[in-house]
Amino acid sequence: MKDNRTQFATRLGVIATTVGSAVGLGNIWRFPYEAGVHGGGAFLIIDLFFIFIIGVPVVCAEFIIGRHTGSNIRGAFRALAPGKPWGLVSYIGLAASVLILSFYSVVAGWTMHYTVKSAGGFTARMTADALHAQFDTFASSDVLPVVWTLVFLAVNYFILSRGVRKGIERMSNILMPMLFVILLLFTVNSLTMPGAAEGMRFLFMPDFSAITPSVVLGAMGQAFFSLSLGLGCLITYSSYFKRDTPLLRTSLITAGLDTLVAILAGIIIFPAVFTFGQEPAAGPKLVFEVLPSIFANMSGGAVWSTLFFLLLFLASLTSTISMAEITIAYFEEEFGMSRKTATALSIGIAMTLGMLCALSFGALDGIKIFGMTLFDLFDYTSSNILLPVGGMIISVFVGWVLDRSVVKGELTAGGGRITAMGVRCVVFCLRWLAPVCIGLVFLYGLGVV
Ligand code: PFF
Repeated sequence: MKDNRTQFATRLGVIATTVGSAVGLGNIWRFPYEAGVHGGGAFLIIDLFFIFIIGVPVVCAEFIIGRHTGSNIRGAFRALAPGKPWGLVSYIGLAASVLILSFYSVVAGWTMHYTVKSAGGFTARMTADALHAQFDTFASSDVLPVVWTLVFLAVNYFILSRGVRKGIERMSNILMPMLFVILLLFTVNSLTMPGAAEGMRFLFMPDFSAITPSVVLGAMGQAFFSLSLGLGCLITYSSYFKRDTPLLRTSLITAGLDTLVAILAGIIIFPAVFTFGQEPAAGPKLVFEVLPSIFANMSGGAVWSTLFFLLLFLASLTSTISMAEITIAYFEEEFGMSRKTATALSIGIAMTLGMLCALSFGALDGIKIFGMTLFDLFDYTSSNILLPVGGMIISVFVGWVLDRSVVKGELTAGGGRITAMGVRCVVFCLRWLAPVCIGLVFLYGLGVV
């Protein structure tokens, strides 16, 4: 590791930034709508399997690569396997990060719009139908969603160009704890709604007949997306870890908190869905249509609504800065660009593609590739294909190719916090379990076998 490289300042900083990357729209927007489309409880169980049995070891694999090399994703593979094709996985990661940043910024732009509208008290006394119509009109218009996408990405530029410690770490330390507190408050509120029992049944009672190959593929994609896994985001972040950061513990805390937030989001959303007679399978609009109904029926709804969307926006921000950091570190270290130029380039690409995604709910909704709009295509291709393929390659690389002493050294760095048995378990998952499971799901889900 290069001595002069930036590192996160504190343990809290490591957890806050890594959890900050993992927790975002993936938990509060994407998880409820995917679970809603795919039958609730059954989706949740498969998601949990992928997060803890497959995800955690692969998170460790990314951490091992990142911290050991202290490098961007391309440089990391060049250092570990010079002249070998393993480094090609970096291009999968770079492509995925650009695609995700583009469509994610559109939804983050929606959260900004809703923050501003909430502050004006827009939900007061509106019926659920009126709130739906309002969302549809907004999302399909040609100007506002594009403007908000660009504003959101400009905020990213501002923070990212300030660098790792000042920008990223300081912000995450404050935001993440706030988000947890407000989620807990909303959870309690939802549990007192008339539709609470039905909502909880939907989320927690698995209906195994709902499981199809595409549900399993969707749950695997959700697990990778939610953990920011498979595209080198965690390689990049762990390149800023200190030598004594415990990797397995950090990955377990990240997965645990990430799952907790997704489940809380489900407990907030589904009771409201059934209370207000809405459709759980509404897709990407779900959260933006259901949440305002909750606020419209609460006393002080405008304040709660503003606070909620503000925190959702901020949680998105801690995730998008981690996505953008992948390409920024790459441009800086591989092409010798300044931090500002590298940031401008990464954000500029996302702005261009983000505008197209924003318009795919309106002016460009007729453009379909494989039957999907650009927004859906970017989401599906990155989450369900690129991330699992990237994760599988990373897992095989660390399990089979990387010197075992490196793996063991990184996992036990900082004073043997993990037993020999623990190391063996992680290696077993990386060698066999993760590649085989990902490979099978992938082939079945895509209908190849
Ligand atoms: N994990 C983030 C979320 O759940 O919102 C999304 C994400 C962040 C995906 C960073 C990929 C990434 F590199």
